[in-house]
Order: sequence, then C-alpha cells, then structure tokens
Amino acid sequence: VSAQTTVAISEPFEPVTISKHIYGHFSEHLGRCIYDGLYVGEESKIPNKDGVRADIIKALQELKIPNLRWPGGCFADTYHWKDGVGPKDKRPTMVNRWWGGVTEDNSFGTHDFLNLCETLGAEPYLAANVGSSTVKEFTEYVEYVLHKSGSPMAEWRRQNGREEPWKVKYWGVGNEMWGCGGNMTAEHYANVYRQYATFMTDWSNNDGIFRIASGANVDDYHWTEVLMRDIPKHLIEGVALHSYSFVEWNDKGSSVDYSEEEYFSTMRTALKMDTLIVNHTAIMDKYDPDNTIALVVDEWGGWYDVMEGTNPGFLYQQNTLRDAMIAGTTLNIFNNHADRVKMANLAQTVNVLQAVVLTEGEKMLLTPTYHVMKMYNVHQDAALLTVSFTSPKYVFQGSELPAISISASKNKQGKVHISLVNIDAHKEHVINLSLEEFGTKQFTGTILTSDDLQDHNTFENPDRVKPKAFSKIKIKKGQAEIVLPPFSVVVLQSE
Ligand code: AHR
Repeated sequence: VSAQTTVAISEPFEPVTISKHIYGHFSEHLGRCIYDGLYVGEESKIPNKDGVRADIIKALQELKIPNLRWPGGCFADTYHWKDGVGPKDKRPTMVNRWWGGVTEDNSFGTHDFLNLCETLGAEPYLAANVGSSTVKEFTEYVEYVLHKSGSPMAEWRRQNGREEPWKVKYWGVGNEMWGCGGNMTAEHYANVYRQYATFMTDWSNNDGIFRIASGANVDDYHWTEVLMRDIPKHLIEGVALHSYSFVEWNDKGSSVDYSEEEYFSTMRTALKMDTLIVNHTAIMDKYDPDNTIALVVDEWGGWYDVMEGTNPGFLYQQNTLRDAMIAGTTLNIFNNHADRVKMANLAQTVNVLQAVVLTEGEKMLLTPTYHVMKMYNVHQDAALLTVSFTSPKYVFQGSELPAISISASKNKQGKVHISLVNIDAHKEHVINLSLEEFGTKQFTGTILTSDDLQDHNTFENPDRVKPKAFSKIKIKKGQAEIVLPPFSVVVLQSE
C-alpha cells in the first residue's frame, strides 16, 4: 500500500485564466494527416462536408477544438499559398520535399482550411512561409485572408468564391527557422522576423493580429534570448517552443511494443516540459516583465518509429496509455504555467505522431490521447487554482520521476475541476484532498486507464481504451481520499 499524498488546492495570489488555446491542435501536409485523413475529397464515398470527413468534424467539435495550426511544420516554409486557391483542376502540383517526397495536387488549400475552421468553431493559426517566400508573397497572403474589399488580393478572394474576409488572428512567421525553415542563426532570423512582421496588418478586420515568432528547439535558450532581445515589442505577440517526447531521438522505438525502460525514458522527456517552460519564461520575464508576449508551445507530443510497413516519411504511429500519460502530464504543466503559456498545439491531429484520430479507409478511431484532451476540456478558459503537494516517486532501476501530476481550475459556474495523473507503471497512489474552502461536498469523476500500459484502440476494437466513471473517491470530514490506479488519468468535478 503506498503512502498517502496530501494535496492542498487554493485560489492563487493573482487570478490567471487557462486559455482555451492551450488545447489547440496542429495539422500538417504530412503523410495521411490532410490527404487520406481529414480530407478525402467531395467525390469520396465517405460522408464529408466539402471533402472533409464528417466523422472527424464531429469528433473534433466534441473535443471543443479551440484552434488549428496549418499547413506545417516544415511543410509551411515550402508552401506557396497561391498554388492552393482558385479552381482545383487548374492548381499546379508540388512535391512535398520533407515528408515522403510525394506529389500533392494542392486540392486542399486556404479556402478549404479556413472554411473547415469555421465549421469546427476553431480559430485558425496560419503558419506562413518565410523560408522560401518573399515579403510580397507573405503580405499578399495576409491581405487575401483579411482585407475586406477593394484591394487586389481581396478581389481575387471574392472571384474565388469567398466574399467576406475570414477571421484569422494567429499567424506564424515561419517554422523552425533554425532547421527546416532555413537553417538560420537566431540573430539572422530576428532581423528577418522584424522585416516580415513590419508589413503585417489585420486590415481592421480582426481584434488585432497575433504574430508568433518561430521559437526554440527544446532547450535552445540562446534562441529565445535573442528573439526577446532583438525584436521590438510592437512587432511580436508570441514566441514559439517545440519539444517532443521520445525514448532516444536516434532510436525512438515502437509506439506499441515498448518496454518499461522505454516508457520511463519517454516520460522523463515529457516531464522536462516543466523545466523548459520555467527556463524560457525566465528569459521572457527579463525582457518582458509585463508579460505581454505569450509562450506558444506549437508542437508537442510523443514521437516513435513509424508502424511497420508504413512510409517512414509519413510518421504514422499508434497511440497507447503511454500517450495518455504524456497528454495528461503535459496539459497539467501547461495549465500550471498558464500565466505565460497562452497557446499550445498537439502534433498532430490525424494519422501523424501523437494523433487524436486514426483512420483506415472508411473506418475511424479515437485514441487514448483524444479521450484525455476531451476529459481536460473542462479547463478551457477556467480560472487556474494553485495546487501544492509533494509527489511520491515512480522508481525504475534506481532512477526516479514524480509519479503524480495535478492541475485544477474553477469555471465560470463555480465548479472546480481537478485533473490527476499517476504515471507509475505498477503502484496505485492515494491522494488526500481538502476542498473545504470551496464548499465542495461531493465529486464526480472520469478515469482513463486499461489493463496494460501498451493497450490501445484498433480498427477491430476501437473502444478498448475509453473513459469510464471513476468510483474510487471517499469523502470523510471534508477530506476526499482518491485512489489513483497505475498509469491512469482522472478528472474530477465538484458537485
Ligand atoms: O511535426 C512534425 C515535424 O516536427 C514538423 O514538421 C516540424 O516543425 C518538426 O520538426
């Protein structure tokens, strides 16, 4: 029997809202994410709306997807948006040089993406090309999307069937400019960024434009330092950060048949997100003490070897309880740093990396990660609560990690939600919680776990891993005793 862990939850010193945009997603032209994933074309036998699968639209709406980043990733800095507008049969083809070298027909373009976002009720986040573009191409894109009427680009948009401009607040100014975006130094990119950002305007169509600078790779603190130092504040609203979880970058291992050692290593990388945010935030605090610039973790998630027999450039992997642990702990980290982390994007929505949806022909399944994201959507735009506790350890071969991760929030109706994760592969952990100061007498809860850590959903058995009602809560004298089974994610709601 494990020792009891006492957890205190209280109102924070200063109110902080957990932005719903922390629960964002990312869909790149990569493998089967867009083509043969989200987008099957209007002629497909699979039910669709303007070519986008109806079952995926429903799943993402139910997830309350707040925003969607597109078209990359590395693809973004190869993408020429003009090739993806106008009559589909006249669009040129292009080779996707980063991802499998496949030829694409540009049939899914800006209209398709922005109309999809409207259908989903999600805010678009356009990652625009800097690496192989020009200021002219870039600013014409902004004009095409946002200018109301009477400009060359607005008129072209109208000819292409869209009268009104779209609402697009979030714009990425290139992606991974230290790598696939152009292999630039931080100093060089900071200047390039200043140049591009100067010509970006919302054409009085939005409530402003939110420009996100391509951010650091993991712990490249120099990158953040230079951007924060060299980019004037009136030109920037967000700085990005990318960090993935894996066993070893050069030996990622199977997404399904992994050992406990591999699980432990993956969780170690996932939990590093906390240190990364603390350290990048400290740099941002130095140059932006008033906290006007957001940290945007616009790529995160588990990255493993592709499933056997699939194209290595397509990054198709399965999704097990390990991924549920990554999602649960990472989202708790983001919530707890919501004062600076205002947006994040899981990589990637469909059939790529830590996907929430997998498809095979007409079949579709929801992954354990989907279920965690859905359980956690109660935190969207809620007020962050402070959680204090000392975690018990998950010990493996002499190394240790904190076993428990928690975040909590209070929504506008006054309901408290607490999300708890126990990553321990073997031990249950008992949590003692006092919520008297919130007047809470009872909880209901949902749990995601399974018999084995490697359990996952398949097209033959799509509901093997799914949330169930959580019953292991006892309330005595204003204290809740919560028993968290090994590798479980629990979300509680005060009644
Ligand atoms: O998400 C896959 C790739 O990972 C993205 O294209 C790139 O930005 C990152 O390296």
